Amino acid sequence: MAGMLEGKATLITGGGRGIGRAAALLFAKEGASVAVSDLQADSVAETVELINKAGGQAISIVGDVTDPAAVDSMVQSTLKAFNRLDCAFNNAGIAGYQVDAAGKKTADWSEEAFDRMIAVNLKGVWLSMRAEIKHMEANGGGAIVNTASIAGLIGIPTSSAYTAAKHGVVGLTKTAGIEYAKQNIRVNSVCPGYVQTDMTKTAMELRGDEILSTTPFRRMGQPEEIAEMVCWLCSDRSSYVTGANYNVDGGYVAN
Ligand SMILES: NC(=O)c1ccc[n+]([C@@H]2O[C@H](COP(=O)([O-])OP(=O)(O)OC[C@H]3O[C@@H](n4cnc5c(N)ncnc54)[C@H](O)[C@@H]3O)[C@@H](O)[C@H]2O)c1
Repeated sequence: MAGMLEGKATLITGGGRGIGRAAALLFAKEGASVAVSDLQADSVAETVELINKAGGQAISIVGDVTDPAAVDSMVQSTLKAFNRLDCAFNNAGIAGYQVDAAGKKTADWSEEAFDRMIAVNLKGVWLSMRAEIKHMEANGGGAIVNTASIAGLIGIPTSSAYTAAKHGVVGLTKTAGIEYAKQNIRVNSVCPGYVQTDMTKTAMELRGDEILSTTPFRRMGQPEEIAEMVCWLCSDRSSYVTGANYNVDGGYVAN
């Protein structure tokens, strides 16, 4: 039986670990060739090795999503390797602790931290979409999935720039979904709740009990559970879905 993404050429940003790695492994298992990109060369090489060892097809790309030339080159490298780009998962992102803003309320964020958060988590997604859409428009369409967050749908105390960036991703997704429907490019986002990755270690240390007690499932999500939604949104099985933002959050936003 053919996989959900059989024959599709895909690009994933932030594929070195966490949700991006889980998506890369699932995409490959479902028959896609995968260009795995990340800022961290070691981790991206590890993801690619895992895929290739399991008999899949993957290449590694090292690059920063805040650098427009690097982002254009990610798309070019994917095309060079696979001759096409059918799906993209724009997933690279950072958390508050990575810009020294963990636990800080809105007025306590530094300007530098705010700018870096927006650069990676919002502008990086837009730069990626821009490069991908240009190619997809000229080649009959495609599917793009952006990683937003429950922080793109609700306010989260001490995450102000993160929340602003993720609300921005939701807005970009809705707008591009409308704009490119005629070109057969579907654009959607996934909105994970609290998922067990390196990114959430600090948040869980600071307020893990509160997070789990307000999550109806009373547990964190696993990266693989997010990857399932991303895979479906990239696949032809979601052919009538665009401009949508899907929670995969153990019921957090419904609570
Ligand atoms: N873990 C969660 O609970 C959760 C919840 C909601 C949304 N998200 C979002 O999911 C995405 C992935 O998060 P994760 O939990 O897997 O985190 P992670 O820290 O495990 O992985 C993020 C990856 O992105 C890469 N990256 C960071 N900055 C980059 C840059 N400038 N250019 C290229 N790559 C860069 C990192 O090197 C890392 O490999 C992020 O966008 C995050 O905001 C995570």
